[in-house]
Amino acid sequence: MDIYYIDGQFIEEDKATLSAKDITVLRGFGVFDFLITYNKRPFYLEAHVARLENSAKKIGLTLRHTNAEICDIVHRAIGKNPHHDESNIRIVYTGGISPDGVTPRGNGKLMVMVTPKYVLPEWWYTDGAAVITVEMERFIPESKSTNYLSAVFAQQEAHKKGAIEAIYVDRENRVLEGTTTNLFAFKGNTVITPPDAMLPGITRSVVLELIKEKFTLEMRHIDMAELKEMDEIFITASNKEIVPVIKINDMVVADGKPGKKTRQVMALFRDYTTAYGQQRKAS
Ligand SMILES: Cc1ncc(COP(=O)(O)O)c(C=O)c1O
Repeated sequence: MDIYYIDGQFIEEDKATLSAKDITVLRGFGVFDFLITYNKRPFYLEAHVARLENSAKKIGLTLRHTNAEICDIVHRAIGKNPHHDESNIRIVYTGGISPDGVTPRGNGKLMVMVTPKYVLPEWWYTDGAAVITVEMERFIPESKSTNYLSAVFAQQEAHKKGAIEAIYVDRENRVLEGTTTNLFAFKGNTVITPPDAMLPGITRSVVLELIKEKFTLEMRHIDMAELKEMDEIFITASNKEIVPVIKINDMVVADGKPGKKTRQVMALFRDYTTAYGQQRKAS
């Protein structure tokens, strides 16, 4: 049985409840963040909590905890679940109960849900995966709000077509990010990733740091029509790490196999996360 933190208490997962009157339930107004552990050490916890704070600021949600307080609760929540080899950590800050059902009153609730890390299919990484594109834009894309209607909708479309992810394309035909991933593309020795109009992924920022000396970086938007000119494409996310993309809609990327440079980035990231986990006592 997993133990969650809900509004001041550590509690068994099936006793963890939230008021039906909370405006996260009623209106999808709330924020969340998600991270995983390496060797039981939460990866870039402070950065994830800083992003939670920024997500809240962007939508006008007041948090009643500091970054340090939330980090401390996350560490304690991991400690309450010693039966996990590695954990998925979901931090949720709700909108709270509002008398009129719509106006936030700054009384949101903090929840930290620690569950066993699930292992994704090995073939995603060895053979590469297919994605689709969807013409859709997230509202306030820099905020990881609890309104993921577009993601739930688009992922169902992706799964129907045998794809693992859907990539948002906006009204200007810019290819922005996946429903829960960031997008990178190689054109020759240049790696391109959108600079804004998406969620600033923590995995993305770590990858950028690891590869900045190795490849030429271009932080710019990618046009839908330009996708076919790309030599390699990959997506990044905390739970998925780095997944090579070998097909977008009906278009096969290059020779339809994970590219050499993508595999190099995957190896750099794996070495980095392994070393991060080994420095567990430092966290
Ligand atoms: C919309 C969106 N973009 C990108 C990402 C990747 O971010 P991270 O690498 O911090 O997991 C996520 C994560 O869930 C996301 O929801």
